[in-house]
Amino acid sequence: MMEKNKQTNGVVSGIIANLVMVKVDGPVSQNEICYINLSGVHLMAEVIKIVGETAYVQVFESTRGLRVGDEVEFTGHMLEVTLGPGILSKNYDGLQHDLNKMEGTFLHRGEYTEAINQDQQWDFKPLAKIGDEVYAGAWLGEVKENWINHKIMVPFKFEGRYKVKWLAEAGNFAASETIAVVVNDNGREFQVTMVQKYPVKVAIKAYAEKPRPFRLMETGIRTIDTLNPIVEGGTGFIPGPFGSGKTVLQHALSKQADADLIIMAACGERANEVVEIFYEFPHLEDPRTGRNLMERTTIIANTSNMPVAAREASVYTAMTIGEYYRSMGLKVLLLADSTSRWAQALREMSNRMEELPGPDAFPMDLPAIISNFYARAGYVKLNNGATGSITFIGTVSPAGGNLKEPVTESTKKAARCFYALSQQRADSKRYPAVDPIDSYSKYLEYSEVQEYLASHVSEQWMDNVEEARNLLLRGKEANEQINILGDDGVPIDYHLRYWRSEIIDFVILQQDAFDKIDSSTPMERQQYMLKMVLGICNDSLNFESFEEVNPYFKRLINTLKQMNYSEFRSEAFNKFENELTAIINERKAA
Ligand SMILES: Nc1ncnc2c1ncn2[C@@H]1O[C@H](COP(=O)(O)OP(=O)(O)OP(=O)(O)O)[C@@H](O)[C@H]1O
Ligand SMILES: [Mg+2]
Repeated sequence: MMEKNKQTNGVVSGIIANLVMVKVDGPVSQNEICYINLSGVHLMAEVIKIVGETAYVQVFESTRGLRVGDEVEFTGHMLEVTLGPGILSKNYDGLQHDLNKMEGTFLHRGEYTEAINQDQQWDFKPLAKIGDEVYAGAWLGEVKENWINHKIMVPFKFEGRYKVKWLAEAGNFAASETIAVVVNDNGREFQVTMVQKYPVKVAIKAYAEKPRPFRLMETGIRTIDTLNPIVEGGTGFIPGPFGSGKTVLQHALSKQADADLIIMAACGERANEVVEIFYEFPHLEDPRTGRNLMERTTIIANTSNMPVAAREASVYTAMTIGEYYRSMGLKVLLLADSTSRWAQALREMSNRMEELPGPDAFPMDLPAIISNFYARAGYVKLNNGATGSITFIGTVSPAGGNLKEPVTESTKKAARCFYALSQQRADSKRYPAVDPIDSYSKYLEYSEVQEYLASHVSEQWMDNVEEARNLLLRGKEANEQINILGDDGVPIDYHLRYWRSEIIDFVILQQDAFDKIDSSTPMERQQYMLKMVLGICNDSLNFESFEEVNPYFKRLINTLKQMNYSEFRSEAFNKFENELTAIINERKAA
C-alpha cells in the first residue's frame, strides 16, 4: 500500500464544478484521497489525474463557495471502505456514511458518520489456533451478525505469510479490540481487530482460484430461472428504456433470490425509490428463512440528488463489501441500479478534464472500466477449501431504448446474461417485460451448467426449455403472418401456433411482481408448470373455425393464471387444474 513519510499539501488552482485543480508540493498518487479545507469544512475528494504539479481531483460534495487558494491536505491512501461486523442491514451512501445516523434525509457538507460502530460488542469464537500459519483472508474467528457467521479475517492488506502468536478466547469483544496478534517472517508483530479498511478500487483476491460458475441461483422469476438462468457467481444486466420495469425487476431479485446476502447499490436513481426500500424491507420476510429481509440486505444509496462523483464511489464500495462477505464463504447478490448513471458521472468528469472523448463523449476507456468491474464478481474457492460467490446484476438505461449506445454495448461484452426489457412488452403491460427472444444466458452453453440442470432440475429440462423457446418463436412468426394476411387468410394452424406461444407468455413469462404467491415461483413449481404448458401445446385440439380458437385459449390461459395465483398443490390449485383438464377434453381429438 501507499505510504509516505511527509504529508503532501496543495492549494486549489482551478474549479470546474466538481472537478478541482490542485497545485501540490509533493508526491500524490492516482486515486489518492484528499480533503479540501473550505473555511473549516473538509470536502472529500479523489485524485483522478496528475499532470506535473497539478492534481485533478473529483470532489464528492458540492464545491459551492470554494475559491482558488483554498488549502488541500492529501491523505496518502485511496478511497477506503471500513469492513467489519455490523455492515448488514445498514443503509450507507457511496462514501459509507451511515444514513440511519443522519439528522434529516441528507448529510450536511463535510459531515461524517461512522460506518461501523467500533464500540459494539460481539460474541467472538476463535476458529484458528495459536501457531497457525495464516495469510490475508484467513479465518481467525467468527461472530454472529444477524444469522450470518461473520468471519474475522486476517486483513486483506496484509501481504505474505504470518503466524498466529496470540488469539483471543471465546468471549465478548468490542469491534475495535485486538482479537489476534500475528507475526511475519521478520518477527514483526501486527494486531488484528474485527475492523479493517480496504481501498474500494482494488479487487480483494484472497482466494485460491476462480473456477467457472455452475450452480443455478434461483430467483423465483420464471423468465429468468426457466428461460435464461443466472448462476451463483454469474453476471447479468438489464437494459431497458425509461419506465420499462428495471427497478421493479431488481427489487424482485433482491427480495427473492437465493443468496445469503444482498447488496444494493442505488446509483443515481430517484430518492423516493430508495426511500421506498428503506421503509418496505424491514417489514418484509425472506421467503426462504422467514426472517426479516433487511437482516440480509445492505443498501448503498446515491440518489440522483447527490453529487455525481459519489456515484462511482457507491458501485465500488458495494463491490468491495461484496468481496468481503464472499471471502467468508457466502453467496452474495450484488445489484446496481443504474450503471448508466455511473457511466454518465465518468463522462462528466472526462469532459471537464477535456480528455479525448470516445463514442457519445464517454471516456475512451469506458469498456475497460465496465469489464474490470464485472470481472470482480464470480465464484471462488477460498484457500481453506470453502467457496463463495458474488452474483452481479446491473441495470442499464439506454437513452431512447437504443441498445447500440456505448454503455449497453460495453456491458454486453462484460456480462453473460442479457435481460432485455422491451418497450412493446412494457406498453402492453406484459411484465416482467424481459424479451424472451432477444434475451440470453450464456451459462446455458457451459457443460457444467447443463449437467447441473440435468441432475438438479430434470434430465429433460434443457430440451423442454428449448421447446418452449421454439414455440415462442413460431408463435411470433405466425402472428406476423396473421397480421399481414388477416385472420381468415391463414390456416387455423397459424392461430393455434400463435395461441400456444401466448400460453407460454401469459403463464410462464408474465409474472405479477406484486402478488404474494405469483411473485416468486420455486424451481419445482416452474418445472411442473412448464411441463403442463408444453403438454397442452402438444395436444392436438379440434376447431371448426378460427373464431373458436381465440375465446377457447383465453379460457385456458385464464385458468392457468388462476393456478399461478394459488398456492402450489393447494385445494384451489387442484380445483383449477381439474377445470383445465375438463376444458382440454372438450377439444381433444379422440
Ligand atoms: N413485474 C411487474 N409487475 C407489475 N408491474 C410492473 C412490473 N414491472 C414494472 N411494472 C410497472 O411499471 C412501472 C415502472 O417500472 P420501473 O420503475 O421498474 O421502471 P424503470 O425501468 O426502473 O424506470 P426508470 O427508467 O424510470 O428507472 C412500475 O411502477 C409498475 O407500475
Ligand atoms: Mg428505475
